[in-house]
Amino acid sequence: MPDSLTTNGVPPPTAVIIFGASGDLTQRKLVPALYTLAFEGRLPAHYAVIGVARSEFDTAAFQAHLRGGVDENARLGRQAADAWAEFAAHVCYFQGDYDDPTTYTGLAQRLTELDAMHGTGGNHLFYLATPPQLYPIIVAHLGAAGLNRGPGGYVRIIIEKPFGNDLPSARDLNRQVHEVFDESQVYRIDHYLGKETVQNLLAFRFANAIFEPLWNRNYVDHVQITAAESVGLGQRAGYYDRAGVLRDVVQSHLLQLLTLTAMEPPAAFDAKFLRDEKVKVLQAVRAMGSEEVAASTVRGQYRTYRDESGVAPNTTTATYAALRLFVDNWRWQGVPFYLRSGKLMPAKVTEITVQFKEVPHKLFPQPAAGAPPANFLSFCIQPDEGMHLRFETKTPGAGMRMRSVEMDFHFGDEFGAAALPDAYERLLLDALIGDASLFARADEIELSWQIMDPIQAGWDREFAAAAEGWRTETAPPLEFYEQGTWGPPGADRLLARSGRHWRLGCHDANSQ
Ligand code: BG6
Repeated sequence: MPDSLTTNGVPPPTAVIIFGASGDLTQRKLVPALYTLAFEGRLPAHYAVIGVARSEFDTAAFQAHLRGGVDENARLGRQAADAWAEFAAHVCYFQGDYDDPTTYTGLAQRLTELDAMHGTGGNHLFYLATPPQLYPIIVAHLGAAGLNRGPGGYVRIIIEKPFGNDLPSARDLNRQVHEVFDESQVYRIDHYLGKETVQNLLAFRFANAIFEPLWNRNYVDHVQITAAESVGLGQRAGYYDRAGVLRDVVQSHLLQLLTLTAMEPPAAFDAKFLRDEKVKVLQAVRAMGSEEVAASTVRGQYRTYRDESGVAPNTTTATYAALRLFVDNWRWQGVPFYLRSGKLMPAKVTEITVQFKEVPHKLFPQPAAGAPPANFLSFCIQPDEGMHLRFETKTPGAGMRMRSVEMDFHFGDEFGAAALPDAYERLLLDALIGDASLFARADEIELSWQIMDPIQAGWDREFAAAAEGWRTETAPPLEFYEQGTWGPPGADRLLARSGRHWRLGCHDANSQ
């Protein structure tokens, strides 16, 4: 059990210090989550929230800025003025330049005052929500000012994604962080792990006896993981055009979903055992050589991407990726894991579908056209969180004609529409409690980049070759796709080559 967990599950008194406090993440996600936790009595009575940023706010203006975010984004919606005032009394602002040492000496002093004022006991949870290039700078300054060790309390640091942009940069960042913080103090966040339905994947697999015996190469034909978004680039061209879909979503969210789907049962539900098992999956993912990159990956760009303001002219940044990965171990040998993610698709859908093999001997008449039916189980991560199981049943009447039907479970029906907490609520609470189970460990992050790097390198090589007027056969071409479609034709070919097709088991099982 985490050392700082109090008996009733409420964390100990803590000051939360957010770097990047004037930014979008703080306003849209972090403070609404903290507010909701406070409102529901899940924060300790003694807490403080300190926003640090360069912008010229005073505390009153900062609070007003946050209030807008809470009204719009907090799970419980707009709240009465007195509920807000009660929360706002714990919130203050500290202005400073991130690369100025006096910011940190001043912050240390202010924290001493705030600890005394709010009774937060020297427990400090830092949150880095700044642009990632500032992470090493902030971490080094925190160390130099002695803020990496509490004055009698604990110190933890949450670091937002992206953690590096390839293996060397992730290693560098891990090294820089470890010069100042012990690994046990570091919480690398991937908000997908905070999603209730992602955790439910573990519950489903390891709290039930019926499916786990089938969860292997003997019964599973393949696995599909889809994270489709209906939105485009938004205001993030500066970041996104350099990152692209592999770095933005696949390295983090999709690989996390893959590890939870493929992992062995951990010895206990505990940060070490859980993360050990996830790491073993990543270690078993087959590395791609340049030929596999050409054969097993697809990259797309939505047709109007180059018209977006802030992207480079003729940019080849991919806004869509589809990959076929293999997990080379006893459980999954030969079972393809198809991953895909894209922007400006017809709907926002995140789901995992486990497609089971066909029956070994077909007793009943098969449909005249289309693929023969097979069972599949879909985890609907979002929206409409739940699960669908598809199986065959007899059509009433004469003969033995089969039809596919579905068994559904929806969280909303069972637990009520407002029951699902926002991912940041769960993750902030876990960090306050000291439970790192749902945060990525240093080795996990490095392994995920190790899987991504050859793919990104293949795609970048293709880009360099194309700039010189020739095309390499060792990378897939950049394919354009129309807004509101499910991606480029190459993605369909990737599965069609082995007689498979993409499925959306939750969104609309027949839509593709
Ligand atoms: C973020 C990516 O990590 O995840 C975004 O940077 C993406 O590009 C987002 O839109 C998706 O998260 P969610 O929770 O909306 O599925």
